[in-house]
Amino acid sequence: MVTGAAGGLGRAIAAALHADGWSVLLTDVDADAVATASAPLGGWSRPLDVRDEAACATVAAEAAGTPGGLALWVNNAGILATGPSWTHDAATRRRLVEVNALGAMNGTHAALTVMRAQGHGHVLNVVSLAGLVAAPGETVYAASKHALLAFSLGTLADLRMAGVRGVHVSCLCPDGIWTPMLHDKLDDPGALASFTGSLLTPERVAVRAARLARRPRPVVSLPRWRGAQVRLLDAFPRLALALTPVVRAAGRAGQRRQARRVRPEASGPRL
Ligand SMILES: NC(=O)c1ccc[n+]([C@@H]2O[C@H](COP(=O)([O-])OP(=O)(O)OC[C@H]3O[C@@H](n4cnc5c(N)ncnc54)[C@H](O)[C@@H]3O)[C@@H](O)[C@H]2O)c1
Repeated sequence: MVTGAAGGLGRAIAAALHADGWSVLLTDVDADAVATASAPLGGWSRPLDVRDEAACATVAAEAAGTPGGLALWVNNAGILATGPSWTHDAATRRRLVEVNALGAMNGTHAALTVMRAQGHGHVLNVVSLAGLVAAPGETVYAASKHALLAFSLGTLADLRMAGVRGVHVSCLCPDGIWTPMLHDKLDDPGALASFTGSLLTPERVAVRAARLARRPRPVVSLPRWRGAQVRLLDAFPRLALALTPVVRAAGRAGQRRQARRVRPEASGPRL
């Protein structure tokens, strides 16, 4: 079961799982798009807004009733708003937290209700490097992802403390991915942080997600060196502040690089 699977990373994860032999239920708030996306992947889809706790429970119960039960629940649905936090209105801040943090909590809760009863299962939460470090320009997004990381790791520890050994929670923390989430952000100064590394393809992240689905790990960052880098910055906040000009320059260079790749005609001849 994958949330936010109509496009972007969610659809790529569903495809990678399908290729790996899983029977995949694709869900998304966009009912038509997810039905279309599911057609080549077994055709099993449901509309689901992750903000709706009862609807998450209904989907989990449906999946639990299939042969093999509910083995894997991927909380992938997410949204991004960029710019300094003071430029977001209250509704935008609320929506980011409701989808990215509370939505994934709804999904985790629904999945764990089934998985704790059946004694096995795996919740895979798509976090972000923004869950490991404060990302300038993506602060409310990063706050929602920090919340998801803390919730996921704390829940995993709670499962072990309760003696539940067969149920796992994993967090996948990728760098920027070239999906519709970033397609309109090539000139957006608020999105610089997403372009400071090597932009990933959804397919590459999906392959890692499918491997993680088979071998749960509490936290996996992609690429690994970026996880180490941002954790270092997180540990030394004054250093991170001093490096903001470097972050800005690296992010702008990354945006230009990607713009040249996707719209070479707009870049003009290279002299
Ligand atoms: N793109 C990146 O750079 C990047 C980097 C790291 C992590 N992520 C995370 O990866 C996940 C997937 O993002 P993406 O890049 O594919 O974005 P995307 O915008 O391409 O796709 C997001 C999908 O989620 C769906 N969705 C939005 N709100 C929903 C809701 N309330 N209920 C159910 N579905 C909903 C959308 O319809 C869409 O199909 C997100 O959690 C995102 O935070 C993205």
